[in-house]
Amino acid sequence: MKAPKLIFIMMLSMWGLFCSCSVGSHGQRSLEPNGKNDVYQMLYFASLAGSSHNSQPWRVEVYNNSIIRLYADITRALAVVDPDHRELFISLGAFIENLTLSAGSLGYDCKLILADNYSKAKPVAEIVLNKASATPYNLKLIETRMTLRTPFDTNAIKENDVRRLTKPDAERIHFFEASDGEGKFIAQQTIEAYTQQAYNKAAQDELANWLRFSNKEVDAKRDGLTTAGMQITGISGFFVRHFMKPQDSKKESFIKAGIDKTKKQALSCGGWIVITSSGNTVAGWINTGRLYQQIHLTCTELGLGFQPMNQAVEERNYKTQVVKRLGIKDELVFIARVGYVSVVPAPVSPRRSVADFTRFIIR
Ligand SMILES: Cc1cc2nc3c(=O)[nH]c(=O)nc-3n(C[C@H](O)[C@H](O)[C@H](O)COP(=O)(O)O)c2cc1C
Repeated sequence: MKAPKLIFIMMLSMWGLFCSCSVGSHGQRSLEPNGKNDVYQMLYFASLAGSSHNSQPWRVEVYNNSIIRLYADITRALAVVDPDHRELFISLGAFIENLTLSAGSLGYDCKLILADNYSKAKPVAEIVLNKASATPYNLKLIETRMTLRTPFDTNAIKENDVRRLTKPDAERIHFFEASDGEGKFIAQQTIEAYTQQAYNKAAQDELANWLRFSNKEVDAKRDGLTTAGMQITGISGFFVRHFMKPQDSKKESFIKAGIDKTKKQALSCGGWIVITSSGNTVAGWINTGRLYQQIHLTCTELGLGFQPMNQAVEERNYKTQVVKRLGIKDELVFIARVGYVSVVPAPVSPRRSVADFTRFIIR
């Protein structure tokens, strides 16, 4: 494509970046598990968990439909922004949380055995299923949970709602009002850390590898960040899908649009959720992932938008400053903004099918 035409298209795309109408975005998430057995259904719900860059870093073996072994798929790791694999294990923790919630709801007791350390050949977790009386959970919440990247209401979060969000672990889940000094500090550091990362060539390359612009690529890979998932909708979504390549995301205009969007996001929320862990261990990160998923599901129930914004954790110089300013004693592992929203759209981020990441073995 000729340069002037591309620039024109990109300008149009940026102009419409926040347009709310949707034009033919590719929205089907995953194949429904209708008619499949219970374990398949649990794995379907598990796979709806959030993961960094929608990398879905999970691989599963199921033995005799009663033992589930979960492995980290390191080929899906984000070597640049997540060199320690912290976010990879947070994503696996979110997968485990959805799995246990859906197993309980389908009438199974889960015995979860976590590995002490990561080893490529060993499972990160083994889940032994036994038939039990059901512990009902509204599985619709798992199906409708989504990362929301639109601006949120800046009204304070109601006290009762804050209590619900921090309830799973009041020691590790911290809440900061957006209007407080700490909240404003997190917003500012998030914007600056995002900007630093956006100009890091290696991070740009890594991000481009996870961008799925054309519908053809979305259908082929069923992972990564799509225009619909990033809520680039309307005419801009149309142009990005049809005329831009992931490599175009490294151009100045795209980077600037991302920074502007991040500023708007960070400055439009009611508060910040910060999750800490007692150590930088695989078990600690998995626990963080479980907490993240629980909080996000509660947000879905309460009509609160939720968006992880983890650049101030990923960029070490910013992490140090946030830890100092917030007086965090443990490890800082996860940051997200929350806020009330009037409309929550249907989730659109694609998922690989259960068959794609699972081997069913009968012995
Ligand atoms: C550890 C972790 C870090 C994430 N960091 C960000 C982030 O910095 N910005 C963002 O917009 N989304 C972030 N996400 C959200 C993912 O991009 C999202 O979960 C994924 O694209 C799937 O979309 P869904 O949550 O709507 O299903 C993060 C998710 C996880 C688990």
